[in-house]
Amino acid sequence: MTVQMERRQAAQSVTANGRAVTLEVKNLKVYYATPTGDVRAVDDVSFHVYKGEILGLVGESGCGKTTTAMAILRMVQPPGRIVGGQVLLDGIDLVGLNESALRDVRWNTLALIPQGAMNSLNPVMRIHTQIAEAIQTHEGRQPKDKLKQRILDLLSMVGLPSRIYDMYPHELSGGMKQRVCIAMAIALHPSLIIADEPTSALDVVVQRVVGQTLLDVKERMDVSMILIGHDMGLQAQLVDRIAVMYAGHMVEVAPVEAIFSEPLHPYTQLLIESIPSIKERKPLKLTEGITHDLRNPPPGCIFQERCPKVMDVCRRDRPPLRQLKPEHYVACHLYE
Ligand SMILES: Nc1ncnc2c1ncn2[C@@H]1O[C@H](COP(=O)(O)OP(=O)(O)O)[C@@H](O)[C@H]1O
Ligand code: SF4
Ligand SMILES: [Mg+2]
Repeated sequence: MTVQMERRQAAQSVTANGRAVTLEVKNLKVYYATPTGDVRAVDDVSFHVYKGEILGLVGESGCGKTTTAMAILRMVQPPGRIVGGQVLLDGIDLVGLNESALRDVRWNTLALIPQGAMNSLNPVMRIHTQIAEAIQTHEGRQPKDKLKQRILDLLSMVGLPSRIYDMYPHELSGGMKQRVCIAMAIALHPSLIIADEPTSALDVVVQRVVGQTLLDVKERMDVSMILIGHDMGLQAQLVDRIAVMYAGHMVEVAPVEAIFSEPLHPYTQLLIESIPSIKERKPLKLTEGITHDLRNPPPGCIFQERCPKVMDVCRRDRPPLRQLKPEHYVACHLYE
């Protein structure tokens, strides 16, 4: 049986809370070796993505979002390495696959829109040539007419006019380039798209347009998505559930409405309180920066140095991520 067939068969049975699950990450650990010890960039992280949903992955810079994405794709670069855990895509563990089996799965079912993707378009290649190359590298040579129609359909799917087909990247705005990257990501009909801060270099209005494009794509293709970002306002508009990371740990996972109306983890509460409001000027409660060295995490809770509600037990025991309500997970001693 091929890996693809195995995946399809396994996919029938992978469910949580009665819903089909596309991706399940279990106890993932990714460390970067340095001369002074391992940086624990991702340290025992677990979460899942339902079929057809957008999961937002948030947390401040350096908390391990990109490393998590790279580990799912098995693309962590040395000195980084996956130290432990499982990445189950439609029930098949990618961490255990050999390179050739992995190559099959990676491009046919997973797509990455990397951080800064729009700046990596080839400046001397027309848009249609770049999209054609992405398709033909994985599917082999295609009849010319069919390929052209497919590329035009992809452009239309991301809301771009057909004249883009013959253009070069420098003739496009940032938002248009980012939508070309989305078109390339969906070209092979993946079951999971990971978009790493796809709107961070764009101005506010264009961010909303690109966000809407991702939403349209999700709905039309019934694809699952992980949207990495730190703009909580944009996340609120786009995602179904939010997973909050802090210093390599998953601290809270909940439906988007619950994260905003009833954030449980003190870090999530500070994140929400820090969203700028037009109506009232509030002093920023959250100071920037992870406070401890990721090579030497403190015993107990990872957030203890910055937590306004820290207790004795927090300095001693690490709180596990526990389900408190249906679909609401939190790692904090306040709720034991
Ligand atoms: N090549 C590397 N060597 C050592 N540490 C690294 C390397 N790449 C990333 N890190 C560290 O891993 C942590 C997580 O980084 P990253 O996944 O890029 O975070 P995010 O995407 O949330 O900003 C950071 O503390 C970062 O300094
Ligand atoms: S476990 Fe303790 S230190 Fe950690 S977030 Fe909860 S209250 Fe704060
Ligand atoms: Mg990143």
